[in-house]
Amino acid sequence: MQSWVPFVPDSASTMSWKVDAVYFYLSGVTLFFTLLISAILIFFVIRYRRRTPYEIPRPIAGSHKLETLWTVIPFLISMTIFGWSAKVYFEQYSPPQNAMEVYVVGKQWMWKIQHSTGQREINELHVPVGKKIKLIMTTEDVIHDFFIPAFRTKMDVVPGKYTVQWFEATKTGKFDFYCAEYCGMNHSGMIGSVIVMEPREFDNWLGGNTNTTSPALAGQQLFQTLGCASCHGAAGEGGRGPALHGLYGSQQTLQGGQKINADEAYIRESILNPQAKLVDGFGPIMPTFQGQLSEDQLMQLIAYIKSLQTGNTQTGTPTASPAASPAASPRASASPGR
Ligand code: CUA
Repeated sequence: MQSWVPFVPDSASTMSWKVDAVYFYLSGVTLFFTLLISAILIFFVIRYRRRTPYEIPRPIAGSHKLETLWTVIPFLISMTIFGWSAKVYFEQYSPPQNAMEVYVVGKQWMWKIQHSTGQREINELHVPVGKKIKLIMTTEDVIHDFFIPAFRTKMDVVPGKYTVQWFEATKTGKFDFYCAEYCGMNHSGMIGSVIVMEPREFDNWLGGNTNTTSPALAGQQLFQTLGCASCHGAAGEGGRGPALHGLYGSQQTLQGGQKINADEAYIRESILNPQAKLVDGFGPIMPTFQGQLSEDQLMQLIAYIKSLQTGNTQTGTPTASPAASPAASPRASASPGR
């Protein structure tokens, strides 16, 4: 789909008109000065042309007034561009707290997507209209980039870390997404579509495939298989490893007094490289899981740890409850044992 402006993609998210406004402002300023300078140039060429072969022009001295003017005006204009686009940028790249989370794993050359209920899809992303969606993304191999032109949002997908982006679609329909980072032979084929549905339709779609395991539940099973529970007991019993209940989104004090926020990246690092950030009061006894877990499994473990928010003894951080609810609710229904 195309918008009414040539070469501009369809506009289908809450951010897209804001990005477009900055873009049109930039284009407008550029066009205005191009026309102004061209017109003055042509006028001067004609007005001050050489009229006789031996003409000597009148000498001219500099003008401080003029120079100040043509320094200050462009400075002010560039500051409006800077201020405005910085505002849009920060909005674009600060994901809201209450967003629905979807996991994205890039690999040569496809996009693997998993919803927090467990529903998986490849090169397709189904989302409800009018809801904030946060994509938590990583890759199994090289750098890719998840780009949805109609939503004016784009973010690198980098090996060994999580990146996020968010959007809220404003209309239903099918919108293309692309890999926007050259990643090898079939880079140009690494494409797919976002399918934006009415919330009710989306719920039907999500409920359509029932034999799926939610990432949080799969993570819980992994947690058992890998023997994590022997140190990280549900409520911190045993005391060999830090308690995981309420960990996600909380502040942790490390050895040496440094404080960090326990987000996805921190949990991931602590699984793969446990010695990197030791929580105050615990010894360096955890083995590394580097090379033993796939990106999918890491995401599952993190989804499980994020779901451990019930009976939260921490001072409830704003991230705790909304992040836990999509992951925790299917788990509750899927495993009556807990
Ligand atoms: Cu993946 Cu280009």
